[in-house]
Amino acid sequence: MASMLHLFLVLGTLMVASAGSFYQDFDITWGDGRAKIHNNGQFLTLSLDKASGSGFQSKNEYLFGKIDMQLKLVPGNSAGTVTAYYLKSPGSTWDEIDFEFLGNLSGDPYTLHTNVFTNGKGNREQQFHLWFDPTAAFHTYSILWNPQRIVFSVDGTPIREFKNSESIGVPFPKNQPMRIYSSLWNADDWATRGGLVKTDWTHAPFTASYRNFKADACLWSNGKSSCASSKSRSRAWFSQELDSSSQNKLKWVQKNYMIYNYCTDTKRFPQGLPVECRTA
Ligand SMILES: *[C@@H]1O[C@H](CO)[C@@H](O)[C@H](O)[C@H]1NC(C)=O
Repeated sequence: MASMLHLFLVLGTLMVASAGSFYQDFDITWGDGRAKIHNNGQFLTLSLDKASGSGFQSKNEYLFGKIDMQLKLVPGNSAGTVTAYYLKSPGSTWDEIDFEFLGNLSGDPYTLHTNVFTNGKGNREQQFHLWFDPTAAFHTYSILWNPQRIVFSVDGTPIREFKNSESIGVPFPKNQPMRIYSSLWNADDWATRGGLVKTDWTHAPFTASYRNFKADACLWSNGKSSCASSKSRSRAWFSQELDSSSQNKLKWVQKNYMIYNYCTDTKRFPQGLPVECRTA
């Protein structure tokens, strides 16, 4: 009995910083064989054809963490396809942190779309082009989520920061544990130029690839966080902020690669920009 308990404790500790396999960390949830795990769990592919897309979700729920995944997106003519990679809690007043990659015609840039939902309300889109071709090789897409901020990063370069603005009345995701989800699906009714460019099914199946998942995170199970102890809360990412070099990189991306920012869309918000935009 004691040794069983010991085993659970050891496993529990290992799970917190998991660089495991896709078998260990994820369940394939849909796509009828179109999502596949390869190489002993080191590699995962999603595919999309005319009949269906595919998707997976994490076995664990997380409440705060630093979560990295390497993705290689659908190459070639990927117009109309959307690869979504996000964290989300269940229910009708859910929280959500989104990366979505909107495919494009060969040679035209992908759009990286980001959003943050709190209590079921989003409308906080920021969109970017990337400074590299995201279909040519794997790149790391990271979410840092701690009680003070959410930072979206690409290859270690921060592209967006959503700060905790509860002091001025903006809800922040901090009570609802989230799972990681990813899916590849057809959205040619809206994705490329508002639906003008249709998915070219002669290029199907479309495939996106995943590897090197790493979660340094607080796991949630049976109503408890694995970060309840002050020791785990003292880990660097739990209170991490952007240092001045990261702030400069963030500014560089926002100046050169941002193509949409809800915080500057005064037409969309004639009554005034959202409160969190006014302080930034
Ligand atoms: C596709 O490429 C065009 C041309 O550069 C660009 O304006 C557009 O934002 C891109 N669309 C998507 C969905 O990525």
